[in-house]
Parts: sequence; structure tokens; C-alpha cells
Amino acid sequence: MLNKIIEIVKEAGKIILSAHNQESTITAKEGKKNFVTKFDVAVQDFLFTELGKAFPEAEFVGEEGETNLASAALRFIIDPIDGTTNFMQDYRCSCISVALCEGNDIIAGVVYNPYSGEIFSAEKGKGAYLNGNKITVSDRPLSDGLALFGTSPYHPENTDETFALLRKVFDFSRDIRRSGSAAYDICMVACGRCEIFFEKALQPWDVAAGALILQEAGGLALNYEGKEINFSTPNDVVFANPKAYEEFATLL
Ligand code: IPD
Ligand code: CA
Ligand code: CA
Repeated sequence: MLNKIIEIVKEAGKIILSAHNQESTITAKEGKKNFVTKFDVAVQDFLFTELGKAFPEAEFVGEEGETNLASAALRFIIDPIDGTTNFMQDYRCSCISVALCEGNDIIAGVVYNPYSGEIFSAEKGKGAYLNGNKITVSDRPLSDGLALFGTSPYHPENTDETFALLRKVFDFSRDIRRSGSAAYDICMVACGRCEIFFEKALQPWDVAAGALILQEAGGLALNYEGKEINFSTPNDVVFANPKAYEEFATLL
């Protein structure tokens, strides 16, 4: 199952790598700073079609629209390009994020950064992998670690709170980083390069695949209340190794 998803996601990555004149294909979406390019739609169409052939019983939820939801047992949650602003400007840090859910459980997740060639993947109960090699979260506390964050760019009502918290995290940690792709950030925590990622108001397609990958790598995927993430609504999220989470919770 996982290998089939990986194969299709890699194929979809070719659409991202061959894109040009991205900025000329933008349309604005609802909210602030929110855009979509014709490539976001093309990648999603490709994934819906090809995954649909491989998993005919599944339904699809994607950032750029969904199929008729009939409450099928299997559901894909997809962000065709996570990091659209990076993509528009050819910043070359964007990912395809694909999660497969059975009921409320995420049973498989794939995050692919076509620019770096990194494929993060996990199947529930079977560990997390980067290009086929097992990964785990780091053992570093936040005080000796790197913190990743997102700015909730489409929700300006969150900006003051985000930057107030960020200031505390910056003071507490070695340093902070902002990549522009939430799915990639979660995987950076999963493979132990960074200790924590947090952002308010992320959508299920930003985090679903990464959440399974991180949990299978030994990390915690929680909301700001310390509860499980609900993958059918927006959430304020924290993804961390257990030590870093403990310290972060005191800063919230
Ligand atoms: C966005 C990216 C970004 C995060 C935003 C997301 P998109 O996804 O993950 O890093 O800060 O909150 O919405 O719109 O590029 O798919
Ligand atoms: Ca996204
Ligand atoms: Ca997207």
C-alpha cells in the first residue's frame, strides 16, 4: 500500500519540478495572502486520478477541492503543494502531502519534497522512514534545540499571539527557523534535525501525513490544549519530541 502511494506521489512531483512561470498562473483565494496556481490544481488532479485508480474504494479531500464525500471507510487527505508561496517564487521548498485515513485513524502518510528528493513515509505501527531509512525524533530538549514555526499567514487575527509566543521560544531555544511548508517542518522534527514545530490554524491537509510520520518516529502531535488533533477541522498544532514538548507547554 505505502509503496504504491510513494510511487504515485513521486510521479506527481515531476509536475512541480517541470513548472515554470508559476507566478503568472496565480489566482487569489479567500482570506489574506492566500493563492493557488494552476500547478496546485494539476498536482491534485493527478493524485486524485492515479490514487483513485489504485484505491477505487477511497474518497478524497484536498486543499483545492474534494470528491463527493460518501463517508467511505478509506479517505485520502491531500495537500498537492504545501508551500505554495515558496513555489510561486521558486524558493524551492515545497512538498506534496498525502495521508490515508481509515475512519478517524491515519494509517499511512507520505510527504515528498521533490526539490531535495526526500520522501518521508510511515504506515501505522511500522515506524517512520526517510528515503527508506528509519528515522526517529531527537532527544534534545528545546533549550538545546531548534524551533520551527508557521506564521498563520492567512489568519492575521493570530499574528500577535504567534509572535509573542515566538519571542519566548526564541529566548528559550538555540534559534528559530521558518521554512514555508508545514508538512516539511513536521518531518524535520520527525527525523531529529529540529525539536519542535508549532503554528495556529493549520488545516487537516497541512498536517495529517506529517502527524503519522512524526508519531511513528516517536514524537508528539497535539493541539495547543495538549489534546489529540482533530483531522476534520483547523487546529493550533504542536509537533515535538517529548522533552521539547514539556518545555514548550510551559511557554504557552
Ligand atoms: C501553508 C504552508 C505554510 C503555513 C501555512 C499553510 P499552503 O500551506 O504550510 O508554511 O504557514 O499556514 O497554509 O497554503 O502553502 O499549502
Ligand atoms: Ca498547506
Ligand atoms: Ca497547498
